[in-house]
Amino acid sequence: MQKYEPNSKTRKNAHIGSIEDYKKLYEHSINNPEDFWAEQAERITWFKKWDKIWEWDFNKANITWFEGAKLNACYNCVDRHVDAGYGAKTALIWEGNNPDETRNYNYNELLEKVQLTANALKNLGVGKGDRVCIYMQMIPELAIAVLACARIGAVHSVVFGAFAPDSLEARINDSECKVLITQDTGVRGTKNDIPMKSNADIAVKKTPSIENILVVKRTGSPIEMVEGRDVWWHNALASSDAECAPEEMDAEDPLFILYTSGSTGKPKGVMHTTGGYMVYTSTTHHYIFDYHPDEIYWCTADIGWITGHSYIIYGPMANRAVTMMFEGVPNYPDFGRFWEIIEKHKVNKFYTAPTALRALMKEGDKWPNKYNLDSLKILGTVGEPIKEPEWLWYHNIIGKEKCPIVDTWWQTETGGILITPLPGVTTTKPGSATLPFFGIIPELLDDEGNVLEGNEVEGNLAMQRPWPGMMRTVYGDHQRFFETYFEKFPGKYFSGDGCKRDEDGYYWITGRVDDVIIVSGHNLGTAEIEGSIGGHPSVAEAAVVGYPHEIKGNSIYAFVTLRTGHEITEDTRTEIIKRVRADIGPHASPEKIQFTEGLPKTRSGKIMRRILRNIASDNIDDLGDISTLADPSVVSSLVDERI
Ligand code: WTA
Repeated sequence: MQKYEPNSKTRKNAHIGSIEDYKKLYEHSINNPEDFWAEQAERITWFKKWDKIWEWDFNKANITWFEGAKLNACYNCVDRHVDAGYGAKTALIWEGNNPDETRNYNYNELLEKVQLTANALKNLGVGKGDRVCIYMQMIPELAIAVLACARIGAVHSVVFGAFAPDSLEARINDSECKVLITQDTGVRGTKNDIPMKSNADIAVKKTPSIENILVVKRTGSPIEMVEGRDVWWHNALASSDAECAPEEMDAEDPLFILYTSGSTGKPKGVMHTTGGYMVYTSTTHHYIFDYHPDEIYWCTADIGWITGHSYIIYGPMANRAVTMMFEGVPNYPDFGRFWEIIEKHKVNKFYTAPTALRALMKEGDKWPNKYNLDSLKILGTVGEPIKEPEWLWYHNIIGKEKCPIVDTWWQTETGGILITPLPGVTTTKPGSATLPFFGIIPELLDDEGNVLEGNEVEGNLAMQRPWPGMMRTVYGDHQRFFETYFEKFPGKYFSGDGCKRDEDGYYWITGRVDDVIIVSGHNLGTAEIEGSIGGHPSVAEAAVVGYPHEIKGNSIYAFVTLRTGHEITEDTRTEIIKRVRADIGPHASPEKIQFTEGLPKTRSGKIMRRILRNIASDNIDDLGDISTLADPSVVSSLVDERI
């Protein structure tokens, strides 16, 4: 396989420009972790320094960083840049869904809006420690709302704007949010009236904790406003005081909750705290995107996911980056939109998902070739394995062979990037996330938990030690935190991913080894989808697995058994799909549904998903051992009737 070295220009300007320097700093970070993280923590402005760098016990799932320190995340992202004289510099560039819509905020303007919003929240009775749910599309007020929460010490819980009312309701109830922030309707691609407020209205019928809904006017479409409960954002800001001092937070005070799918039907409220998260996101953003002042940095993720939290808002803004957010989609008004935006704003650092690259690559080179992409210096990917074809396309057609690609591996739980190339350092191989970031010790374990030493091994990916940005608990359920990440391999953090280490010690993520399926970069729990399908009155049982998909990476395949006496009709199929869309959201709907008389089960009644995965992926020559099945005969009809 061909390897790609960083070019000399990137090396020369990089914060770290040689593999020797990387190794030196990596060794320092491993041998003297307390010194290393104390040095990196200087990026952050602290109201009071820490008493202790770290304390941890993975056997109890207890982790603290910078205990005793005081800081405010919003102050670090906004105020201190104004104080340092950069108030007139651009902080946020917003590119709307329609190409003629752009809004820029400099740091002065951002500070003004964030303070007004913070006071508006206070006027609604929101205080330190209260949870605020944010359910919006990618409009600037979303970033402002997040920062305003951080300013007053309220814990934000952003729910991705495509989630259905039921999912929104479950997330609001789990963390008992006091206020919900949303918008009238949303605009995305050819959709110009995405029901946000009306979805919120359905959700809050069953969320007793919500006292008020704050509503941003994005489209002006008619919506219902409930007197006494619903407040227009612009009215609330108009009657707010201009000044709002940032709350002094403890390093270990919660900053946000973000829900992610798990192996049960109930989503996990991943909780991140303030000090360690700010140090980790700013440090990783600095080195991995090799950020230099005034560069235009664009991460195309949605703020509804962790990538948007860490690498649109907190990391870049702490580093005084010019950060962009985009309301639209890569194929509207046409397949050239990303490249048009890069030309228009002279984007230097571009961070996107493999699924977007695959979809765009399919449309041919004519789209990127229409635009001047000379401003680009570094390209990044995240969310799922990138395969060689799209990596090469990214490298050749988008980066014109001069931009290092950073394939960054991390998770909602990790808060920031753990395994990644550094642009001025790492010789890359298409498809490999390469080497650990500073302070990170990845381990590959066999199923019994033995550490696989040396190179050319494959196993379960775990981390030997904590890092400042890792999650601290599952909101309201510390036992679940322990069971999910620390129980299977005692003393380690288990990621749920499989991984191999090649002859050069490079890491290659092979995909999830648990019940999570990644579809177009979105994590989906099989149990959640099965629960939704199982809610259909005709359905007796359902099992959901992933199978490889050209554009989405994986797609969803559902095996469904109907109740006796219920007939398979086209309507049943449509109703099941509708149901999943309504319960979870369109991103979770099954691409294929196979009705079957029975599912492959062990004698103890456990569904053998391995067999279903093989059938769904068309690997029928090697289904694996089926002798432990209660009724091996179901397999042949499953194979024969596969779609
Ligand atoms: C997958 C997204 C291969 C992985 C930041 C992980 C990746 C899950 C990569 C987390 C990558 C993320 N290569 N796989 N570079 N990055 N993944 O929580 O399976 O939405 O466990 O966080 O995405 O997804 P999440």
